[in-house]
Amino acid sequence: MSRLAVTVGTISLKNPIIAGSAEHLIEPDGIRRMLRAGAAAVVVKSTNETERGRDQLQRAEYMLLDDTWREIAWTPDAPSTAFIACRSGLTPQRFDAWLDQAAQLDREAKMMDACVVASLIVADIDRTVAMAKQVEQTGLRVLELNIGTPYASQARGVVSTELEPERVLNIVSMVRAAIKIPLWVKITGQSERVPDLADAAFRAGGEAVVMAGRLLGLIPDIETMQPFLGTALGVGGYWSLPLTCYWLALSRQQLGPDKPLIATNGARNGLDVVRMMLAGAAAVEMASAVMLRGSPVIASALADIEAYLQRKGLTAGGLVGLAADRRKTFAEMPLRTDNWKKYVAEI
Ligand SMILES: Cc1cc2nc3c(=O)[nH]c(=O)nc-3n(C[C@H](O)[C@H](O)[C@H](O)COP(=O)(O)O)c2cc1C
Repeated sequence: MSRLAVTVGTISLKNPIIAGSAEHLIEPDGIRRMLRAGAAAVVVKSTNETERGRDQLQRAEYMLLDDTWREIAWTPDAPSTAFIACRSGLTPQRFDAWLDQAAQLDREAKMMDACVVASLIVADIDRTVAMAKQVEQTGLRVLELNIGTPYASQARGVVSTELEPERVLNIVSMVRAAIKIPLWVKITGQSERVPDLADAAFRAGGEAVVMAGRLLGLIPDIETMQPFLGTALGVGGYWSLPLTCYWLALSRQQLGPDKPLIATNGARNGLDVVRMMLAGAAAVEMASAVMLRGSPVIASALADIEAYLQRKGLTAGGLVGLAADRRKTFAEMPLRTDNWKKYVAEI
C-alpha cells in the first residue's frame, strides 16, 4: 500500500486529498481534471430542491483580496496570501441531471481508485431525505451533507447553518435512517461549539465530520464606502488554517481518535494538508486554492506530501493527530519570568 493511503471510516482513500465542493466542480470536465490530477475524492458542487439556490448562483459574485484587504486580479499566479470573498449559490443543474452526472463520474472515478462524492445542502429536511435516497439508489458511494454553509442568515430557507447540537442530531438521524452509504457531515465553523456539533453528527450516525465551514464576513471598501460586493460575504483563506486546526484538535480530544475528521478551510498546499492532518484530520478538502489555480494545486500538493512523508519516514495515516495529541494546557507550561519584555517594541 502506498505511503499516501488513508482511511476515513469505512472508506479507503489512495491519498488524503479531497477536492472540496465549489464552482469548479459543477461541470464534468472540472471534476475529471481533479481525478486526473490525483485527488482521492471529489465532492461535487452541492444541490438541493430550492429554485432560489440555483438562482443564487446566477447572482453570485466573487472577488480575490490580498493581505491589505484590496481587490486583486483573479489569476492563478495571485500571491499565496490571496483569499476569496464571495456570495455563492447551488449548482445550476436540475437534480436528475446532477445525479446522473455525479453517478457517471463516480463510475469513472472508481477505475482510477478514486471516488466522486454527492453533496446535498439541507433546506427542507424531508426533501433532503428523498434526495439522499436517490443518491444511494443511483449507486453513488458517499454522501456529504452540508449543514454548515455561511449563508443561512442571508438566504433563509435555501441553505442551513446549524448551530444547535440537538438540531444536528435530528437532521443527521433522519438522513442516516434513510440510507446506508457513508454519510459525511459538513458543519459550520461559526460556532464556539464545533466539537459538540461534531459529536451530535457522529451520534446520529455520521461516518465522518467535515470541519469547519467558511465564515460570514463584511469587508468595507474604503473608496466607495460600501461593503465589498454590497452584502455580507462568505470568507475564508490561509488565515483560517489555525482555526480549522484548533477545531480538529479539540474535537479529537473531546470525541476520541476513532472518530474520522475531514478538514476544510484554509489548505493551500501539501504542507497545509500535513498541518491539518497533524491536528487530527484523516483527509483534507481543498476548494478555493483549486478553484483559483486549477488542478495543478492537487498534483503539487500530492508531491509535497509524498516528499514530506519520505523525509519524516512516516505514512500519511501515521500523521493523523500527532500534534493534537501533544497539545498541553496553559497551566502545564513552565514559568518564564519577564519573558514578555522581549516582545515589546521600544521605539
Ligand atoms: C465559491 C465557493 C463555492 C462553494 N460552494 C460550496 C458548495 O456548493 N457546497 C459546499 O459544501 N461547500 C462549498 N464551498 C465551501 C468549500 O467546499 C470549502 O469548504 C471552503 O471554501 C473552505 O475550504 P478552502 O479554504 O479549501 O476553500 C464553496 C466555497 C467557495 C469559495
